Formats: sequence, structure tokens, C-alpha cells
Amino acid sequence: MQILEATGPRSLANFASCWLCALAHLLITGGAGFIGSHTALVLLEAGHSLVVLDNFSNSSPESLRRVAELAGLSDASRLTVVEGDIRSAADLDRAFNAGARPALAPKSIEGVIHFAGLKAVGESVQEPLRYWDVNVGGSRSLVEAMRRHGCRRLVFSSSATLYGYPEAGPIPETAPVQPINPYGHSKAAAEQLLADVAGSEPGWHIARLRYFNPVGAHPSGRIGEDPGGTPNNLFPFISQVAVGRRPQLQVFGGDWPTADGTGVRDYIHVMDLAEGHRAAIDRLLSHAPELLTLNLGSGQGHSVLELVRAFEQASGCSVPTAIGARREGDAASTVADPSRAATVLGWRTRRSLAEICRDGWAWQRANPQGYGSPTSA
Ligand code: NAD
Ligand code: UD1
Repeated sequence: MQILEATGPRSLANFASCWLCALAHLLITGGAGFIGSHTALVLLEAGHSLVVLDNFSNSSPESLRRVAELAGLSDASRLTVVEGDIRSAADLDRAFNAGARPALAPKSIEGVIHFAGLKAVGESVQEPLRYWDVNVGGSRSLVEAMRRHGCRRLVFSSSATLYGYPEAGPIPETAPVQPINPYGHSKAAAEQLLADVAGSEPGWHIARLRYFNPVGAHPSGRIGEDPGGTPNNLFPFISQVAVGRRPQLQVFGGDWPTADGTGVRDYIHVMDLAEGHRAAIDRLLSHAPELLTLNLGSGQGHSVLELVRAFEQASGCSVPTAIGARREGDAASTVADPSRAATVLGWRTRRSLAEICRDGWAWQRANPQGYGSPTSA
């Protein structure tokens, strides 16, 4: 792995071997983050070569060092990391040019997976302009850079948050887009931007992937989710209670119209999600231009208390809970209808709730402070 900082290379590596074996050369924005790092690993294992562009505003380069290690990249040949911002045309050009190595092979970036963005709902209510700037403005800058560099294949990280308060039952992609907070609005706007671009000129291959609730970690426990501060989301909160960082979980409402009264969500193992991205980019690389909109979820709903019990079983630790008030903006139940992704990509989730908890616990136990101070180097 080589890291290109704003000022130049941190270390140099031998790039020659990769060009012979790589399937495609891809740009991954936000590739150091939770979903990006797991996806980068899956893509490297599939033989693709990658340029990651990340400003590390919510991640650490350590995640990518571990990705390189897990992928067995001892000669550091297929992973280039560019430290930079998706809102900067110059940083984007550096990333696209880091992918073009005509001396070694006449190859440039063939596809982009766009993870970089901000994702905290509460923060988006406090700072909506930042969310529009990064999530919408950043996506626009990226698309402009893609046009400059002649690249028209894009996988975009969208979210089930677009569905707002959905009607009961599995949610198909045809359900109304009606976000209820600035984060959701910014994702809806970026989706619309991509539809407008695809409609304005031929040749675009775009997949807008709407994730449900990504959780868990790579089974090695080497990479995982590393939220800064108090986690907003349930799974990392439960993990931190189990490892002793927090005393108890507050359950946001026990009077929802669900089987046990607690909220129901569609939890998807991050490795299943990563494999969904691999299937999506492979599709875009091999099919005619198209605009896809796909839910990535398991189709199975689990309540807060079910997840707590599964985590206790996987970890052997107790997770004390207290039922509190409902959280503003929550829905009772959000579960995907994932059938379109199965038909279009031939992809479906394979991992169970027990595996989600086992792998999430492996990560949390080995890295109680995240990438900050791991107990196992
Ligand atoms: P994450 O915060 O772990 O990863 C995002 C990465 O983008 C980080 O490495 C961060 O440093 C980087 N980044 C942020 N702003 C940037 C900028 N301006 N320029 C360059 N890099 C920047 O988040 P994640 O959970 O991996 O989510 C990835 C994507 O998936 C996000 O777009 C998010 O909105 C979307 N998503 C996440 C979830 C979820 O529950 N995790 C659910 C639905 C959708
Ligand atoms: C939240 C966001 C959503 C975003 C998603 C992924 C809100 C309202 N929704 O979704 O926009 O796309 O994260 O980033 O913030 N819960 C507790 N106690 C906790 C935390 C959560 O009981 O401490 C419950 C919630 O009420 C919910 C379930 O756990 O029923 C899952 O919550 P969470 O992990 O935050 O995900 P979402 O609410 O689905």
C-alpha cells in the first residue's frame, strides 16, 4: 500500500506486478471508513486494483493498512491511498491520475464506488449546510471529475433512510422517497443528481444502492466499525456495553407496534454488503449503460431485544438494558424487500444474525478503543 499525502508519497511501492492480474482499476471514495474498508478488502481479494480517496475525517489510515494485510498485499502493489477531499477538484484529479500509470500499463480508473460522506442524522439537523456541501456538493464534484477523466461507471452509497416512515411490510424500491431529516434529504438529492446526469447524456452506468442497517465486522476482528464518541446506532452501542465501555443500553421505546414492543430493523452483515458492492461493480463493468436502484438488505427484521439477546449469546457478556422514550424520527419497523437485487445482481445476504454478532464481537473485543489503541497489533 502506498499513501499519497497532500504533499507527496509517504512510501513507494512496486506497481508492476498488479497490472497483469487486476480485473479492473477502481476508485473508492471514503474507502477507509466502515463499509468502504470491508468493500476494499472484498474487491482486492477478487483481483481488482484500487485507489482510495479519503480525507480521514471519520476514519484512520490504519483500517487500510489492515485491509492490505488481510488481502496479503505484501508487495503493496494493488492499493494506492490518496489523502484528499471529494469536494476538491485537485484532490480528485490526483486520485484519478494515481490510477493512470501509462509507463506500466495503459490503464486508468474504470469505475468508482462512492462511499465518502457524512451520515449522522442528529448532526445533520444541527449542521444541514455541511451535509449538503459534502453529500451533495461532493457527489457533484466527483461526477464532474469522472466526466473529465472519461469514467462513467459509478456505484453510489444511498440509504433506506430515504423511505422515511415506511408503510408496514417489506419495502420495495418503488416505495415513495420521503426523507425526514437533512441527511436523508442530502441522499435523496444526490440520487436525483445521478438520475439527472444519467438522463442528460448516454453512456452512464450507475447503481444507487440503498443500504438498510449495516453491522458486524470482518470475521478476523482486524477491521470493523469505529464510531467516534458515543455511538448513534444500536449495534456499536451494544458492543460497547458488552465490552464494558458503557454501563447499559437505553432502548428507544418499548411500546412500538411490533412483537416485543421494540423497534425492528433489517440488519445486514457488512461482509454481505461488501459482496453486494462487488456484484454491483461487476455488473456495471459488464453490461450496457443503465441506472439501477437497489435495496441491499436481508429481508429479515429483528427487534432491539432480539439483537441484544443474540449479542449476549455470541459474546458471553451481559448487556443491561433500560426501556426509555422513543427517539424522535424513528419508525417502528424498516425491512427491505431485497428481491430486485437478487434478480439483477444475483446477490443476496448469506450471513445470519448470530454471525453478525460473533464477528462484531471479535472486532470489539480485540479493539476495545477501535483503531485508536488496539489490544492486538
Ligand atoms: P464512514 O464514516 O465510516 O465512512 C465514510 C468515509 O468517508 C470515512 O472514511 C470518511 O473519512 C470519508 N469522508 C467523509 N467526508 C469526506 C470528504 N469530504 N472527502 C473524502 N472523504 C470523506 O461511513 P460508512 O458507515 O462506511 O458509510 C459509507 C457510506 O454509506 C456513507 O455515504 C453513508 O451515508 C452510507 N450509508 C451508511 C449507512 C450505515 O449505517 N453505516 C447506512 C446507509 C448508508
Ligand atoms: C439510523 C438513522 C438512519 C440511518 C441509519 C444508519 C435515525 C432516526 N435513523 O437508522 O437515518 O440511515 O441509522 O446510519 O437516526 N436504538 C435503541 N437504542 C440506541 C440506539 C438505537 O433502542 O441506543 C434502536 C432504534 O430505536 C431502532 C434500532 O435500535 O429501533 C436501530 O437504530 P439505529 O442503529 O440507530 O438505526 P436506524 O434507526 O435504523
